Amino acid sequence: MAHQWRGVIREYADRLPVTEATKVITLGEGGTPLVHAQKLSELTGSEVYLKVEGMNPTGSFKDRGMTMAMTAAVEAGAKAVVCASTGNTSASAAAYATAAGLKCAVLVPEGKISMGKLSQAIAHGATLLQVDGNFDNCLDIARKLGEAYPVFLVNSVNPARIQGQKTGAFEVVDSLGDAPDIHVLPVGNAGNISAYWKGYKEYSAPFETANGTLPAVSTKTPIMWGFQAAGAAPFVAGHPITEPDTIATAIRIGNPASWDTAVAARDESGGLIEAVTDDEILAAHRWLSAKEGVFVEPGSAAGVAGLIKKHAAGEVPAGKTIVITVTGHGLKDPQWALRTEDGSDVQPVKVPNDVVTVAAELGLEEN
Ligand code: F0G
Repeated sequence: MAHQWRGVIREYADRLPVTEATKVITLGEGGTPLVHAQKLSELTGSEVYLKVEGMNPTGSFKDRGMTMAMTAAVEAGAKAVVCASTGNTSASAAAYATAAGLKCAVLVPEGKISMGKLSQAIAHGATLLQVDGNFDNCLDIARKLGEAYPVFLVNSVNPARIQGQKTGAFEVVDSLGDAPDIHVLPVGNAGNISAYWKGYKEYSAPFETANGTLPAVSTKTPIMWGFQAAGAAPFVAGHPITEPDTIATAIRIGNPASWDTAVAARDESGGLIEAVTDDEILAAHRWLSAKEGVFVEPGSAAGVAGLIKKHAAGEVPAGKTIVITVTGHGLKDPQWALRTEDGSDVQPVKVPNDVVTVAAELGLEEN
């Protein structure tokens, strides 16, 4: 019988803060494909893989953390959860709150989240408030609500989220047999780079559990390469940005909550956090869909944009193993696929209901 993936908490229970008594809230997240990226491998001379997180239940990596956060919320006896979001966290929180039977409120920056993500939060019955401000303002309010009102905060400032998200690193090592040499990913609020680094470190050393010590799984940890959108690149600037701006709305963040842990991930791993422009992000978005067969949302393409940029600068070593997390599905924000490189709209070709005309339009000659 085929193995049915049981969600990240059950698959990695011995490495997560849960017990046998824990009531697990899951939608079967994790177990996502690690796809060999043929063309990026040819380009760089390294073996490049994509960790395709758009294959999670709500279409982004957020589900890995949300299963833990919602499980913790239920354990704490919460009745309602709250989060701030650029879209994916709200979609995930809304779905997992529904599974948990909890009320969910989400705060999103007005006019700056994609239609797909907005529709998910609404479909799952969350109370969605569009705040006249950016993500950072939304997170300030959500934190204050969590402190002073009876709502449970499920943003990644909640350590349960990071615990769940670290399983992404476990899966990479479990697939490859060891850690990659370089791990690349987009950086927004900086929870994910912190979580992957935590996961890689834990897998590379003996791990203490309630039932004894688990041996190290990997022989090394990767170098972490993070990429931000140039208009929202506080780690590159070295200080928060008050007016972050980028078409990659998922990572339109100026004051990342996980600042210190992201800097630690960068520095302890001997890595870097750099910026890519919106044009570079859109070019990588096209590369993934047109050359690799993987459809992601623009923010998710920032890591690939970074790899292509570093390669052009002669800074990507050949003969290595490189993993790039592509964080969210292309259907979240599909409008970008319908634009040509010069910015005009793609016009579908219309044809009459006639095989000869269709064949001619396709350039086919009859056998
Ligand atoms: N990629 C996508 C698709 C995201 O939605 C996010 C963050 C990131 C990358 C960056 O990850 O914040 O851990 O550094 N989205 C959050 C949200 C902020 O509200 O959905 P990060």
